[in-house]
Amino acid sequence: MTKIAPSLLSANPARLGSAVQALTRAGADWLHWDIMDGHFVPNLTFGPHILKAIRPLTDLPFDTHLMLSHPMKFIEPFAATGSNWITVHIEADDDPADMISLIKKCGCKAGLSLRPQTKVSRLIPFLPMIDLVLVMSVDPGFGGQPFQKEAIARIAELKDLIGKKPVQISVDGGITDITAPACRLAGADILVAGSYIFKTRDYHTAIERLKK
Ligand code: DX5
Ligand code: ZN
Repeated sequence: MTKIAPSLLSANPARLGSAVQALTRAGADWLHWDIMDGHFVPNLTFGPHILKAIRPLTDLPFDTHLMLSHPMKFIEPFAATGSNWITVHIEADDDPADMISLIKKCGCKAGLSLRPQTKVSRLIPFLPMIDLVLVMSVDPGFGGQPFQKEAIARIAELKDLIGKKPVQISVDGGITDITAPACRLAGADILVAGSYIFKTRDYHTAIERLKK
């Protein structure tokens, strides 16, 4: 069954704690944290202290997406917040193999993400080392953008490249009840959704709609 990871980027920051508790009750599988440095992407979001403060409020896995130019500086601080999955970008300035080994050394599952313009084949050397690929279906930086439909072919291409390796595919950006079915069909294991979930009041129904 496809897992749903609501992105807290779209939550009301004044009510982050209660949103996390409501998502937990509503059947979210993971919680997705979009961490932005104002440099790799033109936006700023959450620091480790925020995740640390929220960690006691839920048992759900923290799926932490680092959109940072130098993730090596922040892998340990985010692992220390209780993040279970840490995903870094292959386009970041640090070496992908170094980032992956540091994430694993910190006891987290390792993910690699790629911007919509980056060739999927760049991931090939790293597939034996990682647990997850995060396919961006929008340009990273902001919630609420329309789904780029080229992502579907990219998910399918990745699924072939992964074969039987234990690597999950997550898709991030523009996920709605309209775009989710094609992602699932192409091979997505996890769907990250921000605005689609937060624009409703009924998180449970929104999450169920994305799964079906
Ligand atoms: C974009 C983030 C996404 C974003 C998804 O940089 O990585 O996780 O919050 O938001 P929606 O679902 O609104 O496209
Ligand atoms: Zn994200």
